[in-house]
Amino acid sequence: MSNGEFIMMYFLVVCCLLGLSSAAQINFKPYNETAMSMFLTSDTDHDACFERTELDHVFVVYDTDGSGTVSRHEYTVHITATNPELHDFAHVLYDDYDLDGDHHLEKHDYDAYFAKLDADSDGCVTPDEFVNYWTVIFVANEHLHGHGGGHGK
Ligand SMILES: *[C@@H]1O[C@H](CO)[C@@H](O)[C@H](O)[C@H]1NC(C)=O
Repeated sequence: MSNGEFIMMYFLVVCCLLGLSSAAQINFKPYNETAMSMFLTSDTDHDACFERTELDHVFVVYDTDGSGTVSRHEYTVHITATNPELHDFAHVLYDDYDLDGDHHLEKHDYDAYFAKLDADSDGCVTPDEFVNYWTVIFVANEHLHGHGGGHGK
């Protein structure tokens, strides 16, 4: 699988698994199962350990202009191309990745984000660490993705 195909899957696996291709409503529940699907897609060498290099693979395809950084606009366009209803959630996710808040994802942002995922700092994000992190994100932002339509503008 190319990086491109794999990146698309990072988010799209959620949609396809849940049959959301044409649905007006995104349903990420059960959150822990959705997060586990994302883990399995992201752990490209299938060693039950999501590594720092694998995090780079996740983000490289969002860099559509090849600038070496992923802007907030690039990321949002990428996500909303297939799921327009995820516009606001995409912003929340981006801001979670963009640790220094400068609207450009760069190596230091990925280092800091990986450190957040890797709760015990052993260089390996386990399925438990990954699922725990993402379940919190899904729960905290339920108002942005948990209801069909109706998020206004
Ligand atoms: C998700 O949570 C349910 C209920 O606690 C549990 O039965 C299931 O095994 C969990 N799945 C994963 C992937 O953690």
